[in-house]
Amino acid sequence: MARTIGGVEGEYLRKRFGTPLYVYDAAIVSARCKELVRAFRGMDVHYAVKANANPALLALIRREGLGAEAVSPGEVLAAERAGFKKKHVSFTGPSLTEAELTFVAERAGRVHLDSLTQLEIWGRLKLGRTVSLRLNLGIGAGHHAKVQTGGDGSKFGIVTRDIPHAREIARKYGLTITGVQQHIGSHVPDGSDYIRGAAALLSAAKDLPDVAHIDFGGGFGVPYKKEEKRIDLRKIGREVSRLVGAFEKETGRTATYALEPGRYPVAEAGSLLISVTDLKETAKHTFIGVNSGFNHLLRPALYGAHHEIENLSRAGGRKGSMTVAGNICESGDVFAWDREMSVPRIGDILRIKDAGAYGMSMASTYNLRALPKEVLVTGGKAKEVRFDRTPFLVRL
Ligand code: LLP
Repeated sequence: MARTIGGVEGEYLRKRFGTPLYVYDAAIVSARCKELVRAFRGMDVHYAVKANANPALLALIRREGLGAEAVSPGEVLAAERAGFKKKHVSFTGPSLTEAELTFVAERAGRVHLDSLTQLEIWGRLKLGRTVSLRLNLGIGAGHHAKVQTGGDGSKFGIVTRDIPHAREIARKYGLTITGVQQHIGSHVPDGSDYIRGAAALLSAAKDLPDVAHIDFGGGFGVPYKKEEKRIDLRKIGREVSRLVGAFEKETGRTATYALEPGRYPVAEAGSLLISVTDLKETAKHTFIGVNSGFNHLLRPALYGAHHEIENLSRAGGRKGSMTVAGNICESGDVFAWDREMSVPRIGDILRIKDAGAYGMSMASTYNLRALPKEVLVTGGKAKEVRFDRTPFLVRL
């Protein structure tokens, strides 16, 4: 069992930085970015900042040649601060105020409008001559209903039957619809739904004669469970290219293309290191108490998401069925129920794996507990990468 992260011992990390601690392995971020760029050659890969907005990761991802995708003014600012050029920042967000829309229209290279209301505001406030629309073509996918963003159950995008109305609004304000975007959901288990979504988006673009930019959204899953297979990005890339080729041939038009992965570049690069603080048996469960909770990693409590947990202090040893519970005062604060793992002792370090995406970015100070520190490991060296969020939390 590997007791190191990027070549650095868990015990060393605890001594130097303390726990709970998010640790990111730069080599994994770089490798995943390279995979994406290679699989989707000729397309713009925009990293969805919401997955993890730590400036050190943003800078690393930018250096790997990715752009950024933002959903709030704060994320646009974070991308800007990390050095992404305006033309490499795209934006889409639901339920925006006029002030927010005005702000992002000025600062993002491309804004995909999420609703007819946003389109009206764009026209009325003269935010630009061209527009891009986020469409909801009825296709949704993802690991949980809460993150499926297409279909009638979802609040996102302009639905198919409203496209003619969108064209009318655009005409009224003299706007040209030059782009379309779609995001069907997050952690799509294999490529088939993504490809189905891409085909539907290209088909919608055929009927919008000025569309010259098509953004297929994000959603690529990662193997959270040991037995899960890695998604075949190259195959998805080939398939999307084939669809794009057919679209260009049929329409006689050319376009630029983009995608917006958030989880894929960072999920596997991140671990949450925590310490065992308590052990308790009830008639039903053996509880391992730890010094962290859903305030630091919400995914298990919110979606029932699975994260592998390793004991970095104890290789092998007696195994048992363990429930890893946090220090937050709610009974749903559990990282893993009845998981077969080494029986720990108080003081052991546990590593919650694949926590780089939607871990720290969804963390809170609930129960007035501090956020974990964050550390980036590069070339066998660990460095704290502080992220002061306050400058980005703008109110518009
Ligand atoms: N583009 C848009 C417009 C999105 O809304 C999202 C994610 C992405 C791109 C990136 O999707 P990804 O490649 O990361 O799947 N907190 C949840 C995931 C929420 C995703 C929301 N939107 C989780 O922990 O599973």
